[in-house]
Amino acid sequence: MDDIRINADRLYDSLDELGKVGAFDDEFSDRQGVCRLALSDEDAEGRRLVRSWYEEAGLAVGVDQIGNVFATRKGTGHNLRPVMTGSHIDSVPTGGRFDGALGVLAGLEVVRTLNDAGMQTLRPITTAFFSDEEGCRFRTDMLGSAVATGRVALEHAWSLTDRDGKTVREELERIGFLGDEPVGERTPHAFVECHIEQGPLLIRGGQDLGVVTGVQGISWWEVSITGRSAHAGTTPTSFRNDAGLVAALINVRLREMADSGDFGEMRGTMGVTRPHPGAINVIPGRVAATVDLRNPDDAQMARAGEAIREHALVLAEQHGVQIEWQQTAKTGMVPFDESVQDRIEGIASDFGLQNTRLIAGAGHDAQEWAAVCKAGMIFVPGEDDGISHNPREFSTKKQCADGVNVLLHAILALTDKS
Ligand code: HGY
Ligand code: MN
Ligand code: MN
Repeated sequence: MDDIRINADRLYDSLDELGKVGAFDDEFSDRQGVCRLALSDEDAEGRRLVRSWYEEAGLAVGVDQIGNVFATRKGTGHNLRPVMTGSHIDSVPTGGRFDGALGVLAGLEVVRTLNDAGMQTLRPITTAFFSDEEGCRFRTDMLGSAVATGRVALEHAWSLTDRDGKTVREELERIGFLGDEPVGERTPHAFVECHIEQGPLLIRGGQDLGVVTGVQGISWWEVSITGRSAHAGTTPTSFRNDAGLVAALINVRLREMADSGDFGEMRGTMGVTRPHPGAINVIPGRVAATVDLRNPDDAQMARAGEAIREHALVLAEQHGVQIEWQQTAKTGMVPFDESVQDRIEGIASDFGLQNTRLIAGAGHDAQEWAAVCKAGMIFVPGEDDGISHNPREFSTKKQCADGVNVLLHAILALTDKS
């Protein structure tokens, strides 16, 4: 059993195949990116492709009420909880071919490898993909996993809307993934996810693999700033209520806060700023913006959230605008199970892979499953400083295969031992 390895070519071919779904030519590089927004036609096409691969591999496939798809390979034991792995197929609008897809196809490759070897396991193995991990369309992240593990109520999740007012439930029904399996009925024995690091630490540190210690905290807000639109030429500065200026000042403040070190290892991003009316000669009367805060320390996260909103109050007074904040996502720092980390590290070291422990800078499905079972993650390094949420996202066949081989052996160890 110890010398079993995955088929790296087959894994990479599957990544290429799925990468064609929602592909677009990047205007800034020679790469193709993917755009598979949650529950879009492209996401649906990717879902159908992976489900067909699950069926070809002889797995029992179930779809729950939030569109999570679970594919299970039977074990020899009876009524034993499965070891689960998986990730997401949906992407950000300018995504890469590896974010999420690697973890989904890693689980499939583990099953395909065991099938080729005719190897049985005591516990069942479930590989899965979860709905709307990215949160770009329906505005909160890890939605499918959060509903499946009880952090977000199903009815609330179904009611979430995109910018066109379409609800999650309507879109699930439209794409044929509104499953009838009740959510929350699957409690794995353990959950392990393979994912690209999406940052520079592993590649810069000469590491082959990351043993993930946990996930840092995430806070998302939608900020609506209301001033007064007016003529860009005739309105003197002192007469302006410039919502666009205030959005920019909030953004600058986020960077100042992060650079100050006063809020620990805070990261702040204003990913969306939509001025209205968005005309060259009109002072924006309104701006719809977003604020994304990240912090490995929950107390520092809370302080940063208070500080930026207090600063906004001062700006509102100075510039005669109203500012409303709506929190759309909030997860604290989530630690992963030590024994799972140790197991991943031991396997990687046995394989002669340079590995290090690190916290995840991005949110992941595994952090939700950590609420119901022991969970862990394996990070794969990325080229070009691990750039991600960008079509230039890229990990080599060897980098991916190393990660998935460690996943294979971590799953084997977890299926046959308690
Ligand atoms: O935003 C995140 O951290 C993840 O990509 N959903
Ligand atoms: Mn991801
Ligand atoms: Mn992502």
